[in-house]
This record gives sequence, structure tokens and C-alpha cells, in this order.
Amino acid sequence: MSLEFAGVEDVRTRLEAAGYLVDTSIETVVYLAERLGKPILVEGPAGVGKTELAKAVATARDAELVRLQCYEGLDEAKALYEWNYRKQLLRITHARGGDAAGGEAWDEVEDDLFSEHYLLERPLLPALRNQRRTVLLIDEVDKVDLEFEALLLEILSDFQVTIPELGTVRGTRHPFVVLTSNGTRELSEALKRRCLYLHIDYPSVERERAIVLSRVPDAPEAMADQLVRIVRSLRQLELKKPPSVSETLDWARTLLELGFGAVDEQVLKGTVNVVLKHQQDVERALAHLTIPPRPEMN
Ligand SMILES: Nc1ncnc2c1ncn2[C@@H]1O[C@H](COP(=O)(O)OP(=O)(O)OP(=O)(O)O)[C@@H](O)[C@H]1O
Ligand SMILES: [Mg+2]
Repeated sequence: MSLEFAGVEDVRTRLEAAGYLVDTSIETVVYLAERLGKPILVEGPAGVGKTELAKAVATARDAELVRLQCYEGLDEAKALYEWNYRKQLLRITHARGGDAAGGEAWDEVEDDLFSEHYLLERPLLPALRNQRRTVLLIDEVDKVDLEFEALLLEILSDFQVTIPELGTVRGTRHPFVVLTSNGTRELSEALKRRCLYLHIDYPSVERERAIVLSRVPDAPEAMADQLVRIVRSLRQLELKKPPSVSETLDWARTLLELGFGAVDEQVLKGTVNVVLKHQQDVERALAHLTIPPRPEMN
């Protein structure tokens, strides 16, 4: 089997084999990203499968997944590389000791101090110089500062980085890059320009039901169907935190665990805290939700 995607259909089949159910826009963007060698910027609400998409692409391409989890204050030293100061200090101390016993030229020591041996790789570096097929996941990129975004821009343009003491570092092949964002802030136009944009929204009832059945294989079809319909109604209630796909899955697992085959008023009251995480949302749901009946299926 070729590791490149043969077409949009092939993306669908292979992501599904990796446990990820796509829709038309997802499969198209993934295919194009590979063909054009462009990063994908995935935006959308929490828990709709943004991070999971990168993992599934890695599995589907038999690639190594390198993950850079972003947070406020993330800098070059934590993302790219830093020098191992402790080890360098030890080397210097050792060289000094050697000095007394005959000496070691400082030039030699200095050359040595800034060699691979003293380099601490952070996630971006191995992703850039990997000889293997790699998927680089830059997760929650909206959390980083503008300064770091500029560094990312540089890396995503050239897929190489220059370490002053070592020279330019680049791999034999570009990583497949997925950036995710929860949209807590606008990303720069320059960053967006370099990426293919993909918005993942809450899935349709049909796709979410399929996701439940694939992730919680013991769930009866009728229960999965009723659950996703309820979750869909919950999402329409203007809650503080609408339930995500992960919460639908947790709910299905909870019902199975408790031996409930369907949701009624009582079950809803007892288990709604699995899907809703704010008391005011719970109250709103219990007051306004009408539970759709469990469909009869065989
Ligand atoms: N299309 C899908 N196919 C299969 N599973 C899915 C799909 N979408 C979501 N999931 C399930 O939902 C869970 C949550 O997805 P994920 O962690 O990728 O969400 P996210 O969008 O990255 O959320 P956050 O913004 O909170 O990081 C996954 O563990 C996965 O089980
Ligand atoms: Mg995520």
C-alpha cells in the first residue's frame, strides 16, 4: 500500500480505519494538504475532534506523531531546542581540572560545548529533521504569544531552522503539519495564509451516531440514536458550555455501565452531569429539554 493518499476516497477509508469518521470538507482538506504540502489550521469548538484528526492522519500514513502542546509563555527554548547548561558546566569544570594536569585548549572545549552532544531537542526540532514520515501537531496554537507565532511562521515557510552554532537544520521530507485552535484569539493573517483552513463544527446527527457506534461498539444503535438527538437539542439551548462529542461518548459509556438502554426523565436527571458541566446549564436543560423517544430498531 502506498503511504501517500491516492485520493479523497482513500483519505476517507484510511482515516475511518484509524477510527476517525470524516465529512466531505475534512477529507478534502486532508487530501489537499498532502498534495500541496501545506499545513492545516483546524478551528472549531472544544471536543469536536481537532486533535484526534492529527492522530488519525498519523496512523493512516504510518507516520510518527510529534506533538507540541501550546500554552501562554511557550518559547523557543521549550519548543525548539536549548543547550544543556548543566552538562556544559560539567564539561567546563572537567576541562579546568584537565588544565592543571596538562591543559586542554579552550577553543577545543568551546567547539565541543556547542555540539549535538549538548543539545536538548524540543518537539519542533525532531519534527523538522526527522528522516521518517512525521505528522507535527501544534495543538491549541491560539494560546501562544505573537512573538512565538512569528517563529512558527518562519518554520512553516521554510521547514528548516538555523541554530547559530550548528548551522541550518532540515529533514529529508517535510512533516505533515496540523495546527489546532479553539479560537480564543484571532491568529495572524500571515499564519492563516500559510495554511489550509478547516472548520470542524459539531457533527451531523448521522455522523455523531456513527462516531458513537464506532467508539463505543457495545452501544445499541437505538440508544446511540436517541443520545445524539438529545445532545443535539442540548446544543440548541444556548448553554454556557454545550456538550461536545467527547461528552456524548462519555454519556454512552455511562449509560452502558449503569445498564440503561435508553434515556427517560429519571435517567436524564441522574446522568446529565456527564454531559453538562455547569449547574446553570443542568437547570436549564432539565427545565427546557423534551426527550425524543428511543426509536424502535432491531
Ligand atoms: N470524527 C471523529 N471520529 C471519531 N472520533 C471522534 C471524532 N470527532 C471526535 N471524536 C472523539 O471525540 C474525542 C474528542 O476529540 P478531540 O480531543 O480531538 O477534540 P478537540 O477538538 O481537540 O477538543 P479540544 O478543543 O477540547 O482540545 C476524541 O477522543 C474522539 O474519541
Ligand atoms: Mg484538542
